[in-house]
Amino acid sequence: MHVGIIMDGNGRWATRRGLARLIGHKRGASQVKKVVKCCPDLGVKTLTLYAFSTENWKRAAHEVEGLMKLFRGYLANNLVELHGENVRVRFIGDPSPLSPDILILMEKLRSLTENNTGLNLNIALNYGGRDEVVRAVKAVANKVKTDELSVDDITEELFSAHLDTGGQNDPDLIIRTAGEMRISNFMIWQSAYSEFAFLQESWPEFSLAVFDKALQNYHARTRQFGAVVPKNTELAE
Ligand code: IPE
Ligand code: IPE
Ligand code: MG
Repeated sequence: MHVGIIMDGNGRWATRRGLARLIGHKRGASQVKKVVKCCPDLGVKTLTLYAFSTENWKRAAHEVEGLMKLFRGYLANNLVELHGENVRVRFIGDPSPLSPDILILMEKLRSLTENNTGLNLNIALNYGGRDEVVRAVKAVANKVKTDELSVDDITEELFSAHLDTGGQNDPDLIIRTAGEMRISNFMIWQSAYSEFAFLQESWPEFSLAVFDKALQNYHARTRQFGAVVPKNTELAE
């Protein structure tokens, strides 16, 4: 099972307590460890965490800098532990505007864990679904230009393979914390048939109990993928 999480509400969590937004982000970052750890027990094979969007650069410079500092800290401090837990870490998004030291840490974590067989962890850093689609279109167009591909080779499967998530399953469930009911440019192609859970809890309040409840709710749903799926009673007939 693949779960995507839009980790929202850090700022509001802090503001409600009279604290600086960055304190909320700090709390939010410390949640990640706990959530990553419980995935194997909950049957989650792939976890995609939306950490920073292509639109988040619009925030105040000190907030962006604070977030980058937190990413740096998370990547540096969790390298050994993630590898020890057999987690395979990959990054999705456009890395090019990130600072060189963050890029080095990302590459270190990716290459160290690439043969791990436990949880697949995708960290969406400077990620935007539209940006990802445009980069994939460019990659395919270049292959057509150089005759590596013909126009008729372009299928949904081929296009998917050129996205940052190429080769991975689409998310089965997308969870968004903190009450907003929107996708905010997260996995717009991959979410075509995802189920959604919009939770009231903010990301710093997210707990294993909340996660487990969202998964139980997901498992009780019937996914039809456009077909007509008979109910259990009808199947028995
Ligand atoms: C999510 O929390 C973290 C990022 C977007 C990086 P927010 O910072 O969006 O928190 P709210 O939505 O303002 O409460
Ligand atoms: C989405 O949250 C991005 C991340 C969680 C990284 P935002 O807080 O940026 O989304 P909007 O602005 O409310 O749509
Ligand atoms: Mg937000």
